[in-house]
Amino acid sequence: MPIQALQLLEKKIERQIRLFETRKGIRLDDEVRFIRSWFERPLTMGAISPSGKLLARTMASYVDPSIRGPVIELGPGTGPVTEALVEQGVDPSRLVLIEFNPDFCRLLRTRYPDATVIRGDAYSLRRMLGSMLEQPAAAIVSGLPLVTKPLKTRVRLIREAFRLMQPNAPFVQFTYAVMPPIPKALTGVSTEASERIWMNVPPARVWVYRKD
Ligand SMILES: C[S@@+](CC[C@H](N)C(=O)[O-])C[C@H]1O[C@@H](n2cnc3c(N)ncnc32)[C@H](O)[C@@H]1O
Repeated sequence: MPIQALQLLEKKIERQIRLFETRKGIRLDDEVRFIRSWFERPLTMGAISPSGKLLARTMASYVDPSIRGPVIELGPGTGPVTEALVEQGVDPSRLVLIEFNPDFCRLLRTRYPDATVIRGDAYSLRRMLGSMLEQPAAAIVSGLPLVTKPLKTRVRLIREAFRLMQPNAPFVQFTYAVMPPIPKALTGVSTEASERIWMNVPPARVWVYRKD
């Protein structure tokens, strides 16, 4: 689609969102931020709106807050899963949030002043965090649009993640796709999946990988 047509469409969607807000007496700032970002970088965003509460809570439910160590979130966006992690009992000071988008990083720093927010490429996980973590992570929770990356990159990411985590700690990933975002048959890795969350738009499933 030509760039001018995209800009017109973006403006039209924003106008409709504002109209909806006025009618319902609510603000949808995060949705607007998300849509703007999606127009700028559709493949990096991988979604047109933030995850719904049920999906965010399902992701957070796989994290046991009583297990010590940092909880790393990859691609937190505007922070719906971050919020669910805090509701689940994870102290914000344990959170390490790695986000590519500088606007989202600013927003996350305001919302979670005690968390560590890093602007960077989550696919370079070990290079970024290898020397920074004082203890192995209790969990890694990812909202990255993994399926937009080649399989080799996804497998490298999860292998790097396992090297930063405690044994048996969960790598939690959601996907809108029917297939698992990382194949189930990785040697030495056990896999489980949630039910499909039909209430989310679009419907999604949560996959959890653990190194045996
Ligand atoms: C599908 S959105 C999910 C956002 C949020 N977790 C949610 O559930 O609403 C993907 C997020 O990953 C971020 N992202 C994409 N590629 C990234 C990368 N290589 N490193 C860090 N963040 C990335 C995007 O900027 C975006 O915020």
